[in-house]
Amino acid sequence: MRYRRLGRTGLRVSELSYGAARGASEDPKQFIATVHACLDAGVNFIDSAAGYDGGLSETVLGEALQGYDDVFVETKYCPYESYAVGAAYIGTPQALVASAEESLRRLRRDCVDVFLGHGIRTLDTLDRFMNDGCYDAMCQLRDQGKVRFIGISELSEGDGTHQVLQKAVPTGAFDVVMLTLNLMLQTAETTVIPLAHQHDVGTVVMMALNQSSGHSGLTSRHAARELVHRYIAAGQLPNDPPYTDPELLDFLEPYSIPEAAIRYVLAHDVTTCCVGMRTPERLAANLRAIDPPYMDLERLRKLRELFGRIQWQTF
Ligand SMILES: NC(=O)c1ccc[n+]([C@@H]2O[C@H](COP(=O)([O-])OP(=O)(O)OC[C@H]3O[C@@H](n4cnc5c(N)ncnc54)[C@H](OP(=O)(O)O)[C@@H]3O)[C@@H](O)[C@H]2O)c1
Repeated sequence: MRYRRLGRTGLRVSELSYGAARGASEDPKQFIATVHACLDAGVNFIDSAAGYDGGLSETVLGEALQGYDDVFVETKYCPYESYAVGAAYIGTPQALVASAEESLRRLRRDCVDVFLGHGIRTLDTLDRFMNDGCYDAMCQLRDQGKVRFIGISELSEGDGTHQVLQKAVPTGAFDVVMLTLNLMLQTAETTVIPLAHQHDVGTVVMMALNQSSGHSGLTSRHAARELVHRYIAAGQLPNDPPYTDPELLDFLEPYSIPEAAIRYVLAHDVTTCCVGMRTPERLAANLRAIDPPYMDLERLRKLRELFGRIQWQTF
């Protein structure tokens, strides 16, 4: 496992990290086995959130991490009614502090390494978060030693061109951002990533596999083809060859689609590729993607030519 610097935090973070959004309630034993397999493989960064699995992600993660001190934990407070794009903003500093305290209790920690505002999705609500006391409350948690570093994640299905992060990163307010980059939604490449580099902000990439539903996503040839069809239906790709060709993605071979998807992310100047994985077998497959130079320039060029026009995330 290789490690990259998480921007100005100075933390050395494994380039493959673990996204703990799913699996904790469904099969806690398997979730714990996957966390332990990650740690054994050198993964030292795990992303969770107060809202994942109704808090069970943090609870089971807390159990899994008993006795493991050398792992960085990131968690989040969501200041919206739900994860839906149009959900109402309901953030308050009191709720943010209460959420952070609950997260610490569930995670069985005195301090989390990174604490994020979860899914900030419009410029208007970013402005509210910065000025209604929520941001100040995050800073106070940092001053009190309850969180080490602060940041925000975006909601790319509502903000495919990263308007929120493009505004937030240059303010210097945040140490870390969590953003979407994948071989179809490439918009971060020329927007947030260079900005984050310029301002020394750590970049945690989510949805490398486009948050696959099983039917559509970057998890298999079949699911990737379905995703291309959905981009065509959404009017973001032409309904013409090569997009309609079954062999559209064959040039990625010998990599599997998920391997190519992780390689694509790691070929960029980002800190870590945070992937949701429900089993140790998934992890074992994804570990195949972590050898530099990750992906050759010709494949990267071809991916840019094919999908660089996509501006909005589709699932
Ligand atoms: N706004 C936000 O802050 C936000 C939004 C989304 C995600 N996140 C974070 O980012 C993390 C990653 O995003 P994500 O989990 O939504 O999406 P993702 O990593 O793009 O996709 C995860 C899905 O890919 C599947 N998968 C992983 N490796 C695979 C492989 N080798 N072969 C086939 N399938 C594979 C997993 O299946 P199985 O489950 O069957 O293993 C899982 O369903 C989340 O866990 C969460 O921590 C944050």
